[in-house]
Amino acid sequence: MSDTCACQCNPSPVQQVATGDRAILPEGAKTIPIFVMGKRYEVPETLTIMKAMEFAGFQFLRGCGCRGGICGACPTVYRKEGDYKLYFGLACQTVVEPNMYLAQVPFYPANRARYDIETVEPVAETIHALYPELFRCVACNNCSKACPMGVEVLDYISALKQGDIAKAAEISFDCIQCGLCASRCMGELPQYHIAQLARRIYGKYLQPRAEHLAKRVQEIESGKYTAMLDNLTKMSKDELEKLYKEREREPEMTSLGTWMPKDTQYL
Ligand code: SF4
Ligand code: SF4
Ligand code: FES
Repeated sequence: MSDTCACQCNPSPVQQVATGDRAILPEGAKTIPIFVMGKRYEVPETLTIMKAMEFAGFQFLRGCGCRGGICGACPTVYRKEGDYKLYFGLACQTVVEPNMYLAQVPFYPANRARYDIETVEPVAETIHALYPELFRCVACNNCSKACPMGVEVLDYISALKQGDIAKAAEISFDCIQCGLCASRCMGELPQYHIAQLARRIYGKYLQPRAEHLAKRVQEIESGKYTAMLDNLTKMSKDELEKLYKEREREPEMTSLGTWMPKDTQYL
């Protein structure tokens, strides 16, 4: 680790906290004990699990992607002191608590069916045939309780059992494919893979097309903007800056749908 932080302020190495994406100085920071796979570490109380583990000396080669709660690479299971309950969270989003016992689940070996989305029949029977284990669901709701995104997993599984692809696609929209639901399933379903297929089918075949988008694509393909873009690419930097500064702008605080530019040729 370098002794120089991101802002080049060259802090003392003993004070620097490695956080993975930036360095912070924990002046006066309180530390708390956490347990990672059974071993005790003292970490600053303000860090996320991911940064606390890096502070403790772990290096994430897998189980870390976006650091922003989007990629689903960092699911974590933990217990709190004196509490029988299992908790679930994303390591990059969940802040440490005193005496939490935690373990990473960076990958879960769930069954993933093979299919060609270009040729599948956009009907529920396709999903039922590719994932017959769907009907092993016993509605225990463990999956929903484990989901760090608050997705009602049981509800989308039930929707698919009833053949409602659109409903399943909508309910599962926030799924980040972390796999925690599958890790808790007594029916051994790969819920997130099933939901992904539902969303793919819905998006490709069932969702109503946006007419305004189709019209704009058709205009682009017919060459409506070609000459204008060619003209822009030939301009100098100064000409582009002038054009940008003099462009007609929507006034601030305009009510939605009440303003139109004078030049509407490219709308
Ligand atoms: S539905 Fe399953 S895979 Fe998707 S975010 Fe929730 S727990 Fe993770
Ligand atoms: S954990 Fe599995 S069996 Fe239980 S409700 Fe969810 S999908 Fe069904
Ligand atoms: S690292 Fe991507 S969700 Fe946590």
